[in-house]
Amino acid sequence: MKNILVTGGCGFIGTNFIRYLLSLPEFKGIVVNVDKLTYAGCAENLDDIQSKYPDRYFFVKADICDIDRLKELVERHAIDTICHFAAESHVDRSIVEPDAFIKTNIVGTYRLLELARRYRSQVQLFHHVSTDEVFGDLGSGGYFTETTPYNPSNPYSASKAASDHLVRSYSRTYDIPVTISNCSNNYGPYQFPEKLIPLMILNAKAGKPLPVYGSGKNVRDWLYVEDHCSALWEIMKRGKRGETYNIGGRCEKPNIEVVSTICDMIDSLSPLPDGRSRRELITFVKDRPGHDLRYAIDSSRLENELGWRPRQSFKTGLKKTIKWYLNNESWVRRIQTGEYRNWIKRQYDDR
Ligand code: NAD
Ligand code: DAU
Repeated sequence: MKNILVTGGCGFIGTNFIRYLLSLPEFKGIVVNVDKLTYAGCAENLDDIQSKYPDRYFFVKADICDIDRLKELVERHAIDTICHFAAESHVDRSIVEPDAFIKTNIVGTYRLLELARRYRSQVQLFHHVSTDEVFGDLGSGGYFTETTPYNPSNPYSASKAASDHLVRSYSRTYDIPVTISNCSNNYGPYQFPEKLIPLMILNAKAGKPLPVYGSGKNVRDWLYVEDHCSALWEIMKRGKRGETYNIGGRCEKPNIEVVSTICDMIDSLSPLPDGRSRRELITFVKDRPGHDLRYAIDSSRLENELGWRPRQSFKTGLKKTIKWYLNNESWVRRIQTGEYRNWIKRQYDDR
């Protein structure tokens, strides 16, 4: 893997993955980051990477549905690997406005697969980054394995399920070399503050209400984003072609526990002036429609076959994450005011 096309590299996990990859002494290749810069894409996340690696990191603002543009890039940069993150990723948005989810997650993945088919002799691997949400609701016991039947509950997870099926079908029908990963909930730096953990950190810091859906008893399995990145890289390097790997942190927590822990950690780092506990800010609100009760991943395959282990515990990962949000006020302000969306204007229009 020398010349890697990363889709969605200006989003949360894509940004962390590009930073991780370029920090690895064993990786000597180039990264071409194709991102449409939707509301979730923040190109300035990688400004320092652009300056540090001007000959190894290339950003292209493009839609993954634009196959002609993608062909041009695959040829120009002699791309041999595609790592596909680009997606509409937020469940609540998919419930209100599913259209973009169908276009990007299903049609976009299909277009990229066609690209891999067209350049079959050049592209040696198509890695598809997917989610544990495709499996739907897990009861109070058991774990998702690689053979758990798909049972998605919302337009986001249904669109990701469709994309996974397309990837498998291209592997089987056209012999495209693929790997697929289904990962649990990530948290860490650069996550857009519409998702539970960054939203709660920023609201708690500001002394605003902390909206917990329903009873707060829904369970998610949390993984620090850099541990997801290391798992992806192991799968891309050594994973069996045509196969799927589940990635999870063995870290199940009910939402209310996650939010309470965030309150306590922020209280100890930056107490409220009146000494009140931030737990008092917790507000139970109307539940998300179709809200899955529990997700939990069995990642034994990844652990046993590829020797992968997460490095961060929930405590260490969450502390790093909270500190990152507290120390990166300018990033937070630019996201909250929408200033980050002027990046393209600054890069191109002002010249
Ligand atoms: P994100 O919403 O933070 O980032 C998505 C990125 O994709 C953005 O930069 C956006 O601009 C870009 N994008 C969207 N539509 C595009 C298009 N048509 N063409 C090009 N770029 C486009 O998402 P994330 O949380 O970083 O998730 C990345 C991937 O990982 C997704 O495929 C998601 O399903 C999967 N995943 C996420 C999690 C999680 O907890 N966040 C867990 C498991 C799997
Ligand atoms: O499981 C992997 C998935 O994790 C990824 O595929 C998705 O892209 C990612 O967004 C995430 O989905 P969730 O719906 O689990 O994440 P979210 O952060 O939106 O919500 C986590 C839990 O917290 C969920 O049970 C809903 C709840 N929640 C969320 C928000 C935003 C609240 O209680 N209050 C909130 O304000």
